[in-house]
Amino acid sequence: MTDLTTDKQTALAAIAAVGTLDALEEQRLAALGKKGWVSLALKTLGGMSPAERQEAAPAIQAVRAEIADAIDAKKAYLEAAALEAQLAAEKLDLTLPAPQSLRGSIHPVSQVMDELAEIFADLGFAVATGPEIEDDWHNFTALNMDESHPARAMHDTFYFPDAAPDGGQMLLRTHTSPVQIRTKKDVAAKNEGGAPIRIIAPGRVYRSDSDATHTPMFHQVEGLVVDRDIHLGHLKWTLETFFKAFFEREDIVLRLRPSYFPFTEPSVEVDVGYSNEGNRRVVGGHGDDEGHDWMELGGSGMVNARVLHSAGFDPEQWQGFAFGLGIDRIAMLKYGMNDLRAFFDGDPRWLAHYGFSPFDQPTLSAGVGARA
Ligand code: PHE
Repeated sequence: MTDLTTDKQTALAAIAAVGTLDALEEQRLAALGKKGWVSLALKTLGGMSPAERQEAAPAIQAVRAEIADAIDAKKAYLEAAALEAQLAAEKLDLTLPAPQSLRGSIHPVSQVMDELAEIFADLGFAVATGPEIEDDWHNFTALNMDESHPARAMHDTFYFPDAAPDGGQMLLRTHTSPVQIRTKKDVAAKNEGGAPIRIIAPGRVYRSDSDATHTPMFHQVEGLVVDRDIHLGHLKWTLETFFKAFFEREDIVLRLRPSYFPFTEPSVEVDVGYSNEGNRRVVGGHGDDEGHDWMELGGSGMVNARVLHSAGFDPEQWQGFAFGLGIDRIAMLKYGMNDLRAFFDGDPRWLAHYGFSPFDQPTLSAGVGARA
């Protein structure tokens, strides 16, 4: 028994002395492990007489419990100390500068689309959308371009090899004008044959064409107004008001030049006066003045009565105007880029230079908000 007491005291002293959880585990194995001295002492019980055992067993069990308690207590202490040390080491220094994170920018085309939507929203226009994979009925036929119409060939269309379920030809839309047809059909169906429409439809369009001023994918914004007593004067005022807000200057002069589109009658091309400042084109002023010239920004006209009719409107009661503008072109003019292809190269240096911060919207707040 004296052995056991000595062993116990030695063990308790060792447990009190350890400084790490690993060292504590060693002590536990030495005492309570399979071959530990407490376990070996318990094994001796088997070889004793019942009387001896009755005396020895409680003493050994008491030693075992004392050692186990000491180990548990020391373990809890060491764990708490380790946690405290970790917390102290990981203290945050809030005065350190924050690491710089990379920040994306808004592409000029997205920026200009937002600007368009805001300005036209002020004029009462909603935004409409349509599919980029179209059928030839919406892209051509319903716009008064049947199969034999020469304007179809002029569109350099990307066709899909497989026919649509209804037998029509599928294609990548060559302009945003099919959204006119879809919107008119929706409105005519909902309102039994006619209602005022005021929409713009910005989006991607595709033509098989590529050089410094043409890319196979580019962006247009379609505009459509259908109402009673609409005439070309409304078209001109709307476009003029839009361009003044968009370019943020009052001296915008538009020229509507007679032209031809199958879906408008009469049709006009929209030109804007500009001048050259250095190697940059700056909109403003009368294109016929000294040092000025005209630049084409899009097509427009009064919606052809046949197109109104095919979309379910009675042309005797409803008139409308439509326009289609090149978004990339007006973006280049406003923000001074000169190569259209750079818009779609995805060069991060170009985007860092011409992109817009997602957090401050300089032209939107200054341009549109200032007019309110
Ligand atoms: N869709 C025509 C084009 O892409 C532009 C246009 C739109 C003309 C609306 C008139 C009216 O060339």
